[in-house]
Amino acid sequence: MTTSDTATANGDFAAAVVGWQRRFGRHHLPWQNTTDPYRIWLSEIMLQQTQVAAVVPYFERFLERFPALGDLAQASEDDVLAMWSGLGYYARGRNLHRAAKQIAAEHGGSYPERFEDILALPGVGRSTAGAVAVFAFGQRFAILDGNVKRVLTRCFGIEGYPGAAEVATRLWQLAESLLPSTDIKAYTQGLMDLGSEVCTRSRPRCSECPLSSRCLARSLGQIDRLPTPRPRKKRPQRETVMMVLQCDESILMEKRAAQGIWGGLWSFPETGSMGDVRGECLTRFGLEAQTVIALSPIEHGFTHYSLTITPALCRIGKRVTSVQESGGSWFALEEAGNHAIPVPVRKLLDRLRALPADGADSVRTAE
Ligand code: ADE
Repeated sequence: MTTSDTATANGDFAAAVVGWQRRFGRHHLPWQNTTDPYRIWLSEIMLQQTQVAAVVPYFERFLERFPALGDLAQASEDDVLAMWSGLGYYARGRNLHRAAKQIAAEHGGSYPERFEDILALPGVGRSTAGAVAVFAFGQRFAILDGNVKRVLTRCFGIEGYPGAAEVATRLWQLAESLLPSTDIKAYTQGLMDLGSEVCTRSRPRCSECPLSSRCLARSLGQIDRLPTPRPRKKRPQRETVMMVLQCDESILMEKRAAQGIWGGLWSFPETGSMGDVRGECLTRFGLEAQTVIALSPIEHGFTHYSLTITPALCRIGKRVTSVQESGGSWFALEEAGNHAIPVPVRKLLDRLRALPADGADSVRTAE
C-alpha cells in the first residue's frame, strides 16, 4: 500500500464508524450533548470498569450534590465517598476529589484544556485523557479502553495479550493512525458504542457491524480467540514420591483420607524423597525393601498446581500381616485397576503391568 492508499483505508474505517454512530449509536446519554469538561470527566471516571446502566443514576445524584467542579473541590472526602458508595473501586472517588483540589490549586478552578495537564490529574490514564480531550474540547486524540481494544484486535487481527507492553504500543499506534481529521466526537463515541453494543465479548452482532466486511477476525473465524486473553500464570510445581511396594505379583495400596486431593481413592503410599523410601517401608509397614528403583516420573496437572510423581519400585521379599493395621492392603497387580484410583495412579499401574519381572529396563536410577 502507498501512503495515500493507507490514508484512504483509514479514512474508510473512520467513515464507516462515524456513519454508523450517526444512525445507530447512542445520542442521549446524560453526559452527551454537553461540552462541560467537569461532567465529561466525571462520566469517564465513573465508566471505568462500570457499565453505562449502572453509572447513570450515580452520575445524576453526584451532580445534584456537587453541581460544579468547585463544589467537589470544597467537599470533604467523606461526602464524596458517600456519593460514590455502591459504585465500587473507591480509589476512583478519592482520586476524583484529589484532582478537583489540584485543579483549584493549579488551574485556578478551570478544568485544564491541554492533554498533558488532563493526563497529569490523579486517576486519569491515557485513554480517559483522550476521551475528555475529544468530548470536551474537540481535540484529536485516540482512546483505547477495553471495548476499543476488542474492536481493533478483531478488526485488524492483532494477536497477543493487549495488556502486554509491545501489543499495547502497537494498538495505540493503530488507534492514532485511524483518527479522522473531522468528526472526532462521533468517531470516538462510535468506537465506544460498537465495542459495548455490537462487538461484544461473546456472541458479537457482526451482521449489524459497519466493519464486518473488513474484519480480519471474522473472515478468519478467529472472533472467539481475539482479543488474546491474559496469559495464565505458570502453576506452582510440587513433587512427591509414590512407593510401590511389590511382593511377587502383589502391590500395596492405601485408601486416602476422605479430605484432601483424591479423597477416598486408592493410591500408593507417598513420601517426600527417594532417600526416605527404605526407612518409610520399615517404619510404616514393617517391611524391608530388597531393592529400591526410581522409575521415570509422571506429570499430573491440577487446577492450582502441577505434581511430579516419582514412582519408587520397592521389591519386598516377604509379606507380613501387620500391613493391614497400617492402613495398607495388598492387591493383585492385575486387578488393582478395578478399584477407584486417581488417573496418574492408573497410568502407573499400566506401566507396572508392562514391566519385566526384574523391572530392569524401566529404571531411571537405582540404589
Ligand atoms: N464508556 C466510556 N466512556 C463512554 C462514553 N462516553 N459513552 C459510553 N460509554 C462509555
